[in-house]
Amino acid sequence: MTRLLLIDDERPILETLETSLTSEGYDVMTAETSKEGLRIFEEEGIKLILTDIKMPGIDGIEVLKKVKAIDEEAEVIVITGHGDMDTAIAALQYGASDFITKPIRDEVLLLALERAKKTLAMSQQLRSYTEHLEQKVEEHRLELRQAQEELIRNERLATIGETVAGLAHYIKNVVTALQGGMHMVERGMPRHRPQMFEEGWAMVQRHVGKVSDLALALLRYSKERTPERSICRPNDIVSEVVELFKDTAEEHNVKLKTVLDPNLTEAYLDRDGIHRVLVNLVSNGIDGCIYDTDTSKGWSVIVKTRIETNTESAETIVFEVTDNGCGMTDEVKQKLFSRFFSTKAGRGTGLGLLITQKIIHEHGGEISVKSKAGRGTTFSVRFNHYMPNVSPRAICYASEKEHRLRAQMEKALPRALQTLQSVKKTDSNA
Ligand SMILES: Nc1ncnc2c1ncn2[C@@H]1O[C@H](COP(=O)(O)OP(=O)(O)OP(=O)(O)O)[C@@H](O)[C@H]1O
Ligand SMILES: [Mg+2]
Repeated sequence: MTRLLLIDDERPILETLETSLTSEGYDVMTAETSKEGLRIFEEEGIKLILTDIKMPGIDGIEVLKKVKAIDEEAEVIVITGHGDMDTAIAALQYGASDFITKPIRDEVLLLALERAKKTLAMSQQLRSYTEHLEQKVEEHRLELRQAQEELIRNERLATIGETVAGLAHYIKNVVTALQGGMHMVERGMPRHRPQMFEEGWAMVQRHVGKVSDLALALLRYSKERTPERSICRPNDIVSEVVELFKDTAEEHNVKLKTVLDPNLTEAYLDRDGIHRVLVNLVSNGIDGCIYDTDTSKGWSVIVKTRIETNTESAETIVFEVTDNGCGMTDEVKQKLFSRFFSTKAGRGTGLGLLITQKIIHEHGGEISVKSKAGRGTTFSVRFNHYMPNVSPRAICYASEKEHRLRAQMEKALPRALQTLQSVKKTDSNA
């Protein structure tokens, strides 16, 4: 049964229309004032309205405007005075579906109502179609996402085989070296050959360290993680990393320098992640110098930071690590980010850049490389620079302190091991 709202201030007309339209099968609601009519319309959500134009207070045109403002789909038929064409045209301009003139003739009214009902049914059909369309698109999008995830999972499974092969090879090399070290220790100890013992022990230590590095690297590589961002000072992270490599660089005649942008005061990044990225890049830079055969060069590794602003005033944080070491051939450049790719003959795991890239991508950042064989290499890392609205500075400074302590510990550890070794040496000499 179609529900219909009748609004007319003349009670006899209202009653007559109610009776005839009810007998035509309409579920009729009536209102003697526009205000009352609008209230019923809003409360009941009626879609078909028949309203008189001339009414005290809010007239029919106003009723029409208000109805259309609330529900564009609702169909309003207006009743105008005989010959009042201007009002009828105005009503059509404001979106009335039809007009009928007084005195009302039943057949004209019924025809107008039928037309309005048809339009109503069509627009409802269109709406439901559109809604279903959106739902269908959403369903397809979901299916597509699931298929993509499935594809990634399969790809991962397929690469596990390769990964295991690469790992087995690496571990085999480390185990061989460990066995060599143990052999030297075993032979050096009973024969009181401290130098052999020392060398064997150092080999064992080095390779145990490699296994633990490998385990950590694999953990980092395998874990899906979102960056734990906090407000940090990028320049401080660079300084800490450079401090970590100071001794190694010095030992190999590599000058380790920084050029830090003073405008880059704070950033919202995962401090640990950025630390790891820089450790990997600086260590590669120093290795690049160590592996360089041109000894006439004054080798250097320079770490730069800067902040760039594009035309839309968006800011980018840039970290750059440049070395003038051996550089890379095009072939090496192509394989850079592949699993277990290393030219360091068992010295490297070949996971460093892969993990570096993963951390950067998790941040939504980018890494790029420029390199020339025999000339050197520059890695550039770029992140969008944005700060959260609430700045948890207290947390930030707490974590900065923790990082400083950790950096100090990392630096102190090799020295402690050295001391331990020399104590052992004195003992065995005695
Ligand atoms: N700065 C650089 N100069 C020259 N070659 C580089 C440089 N950085 C990376 N490479 C090349 O890319 C390879 C892969 O680097 P990656 O850091 O992934 O592994 P790795 O350094 O060999 O081992 P690790 O996993 O221990 O870092 C290196 O073995 C080296 O051949
Ligand atoms: Mg590396």
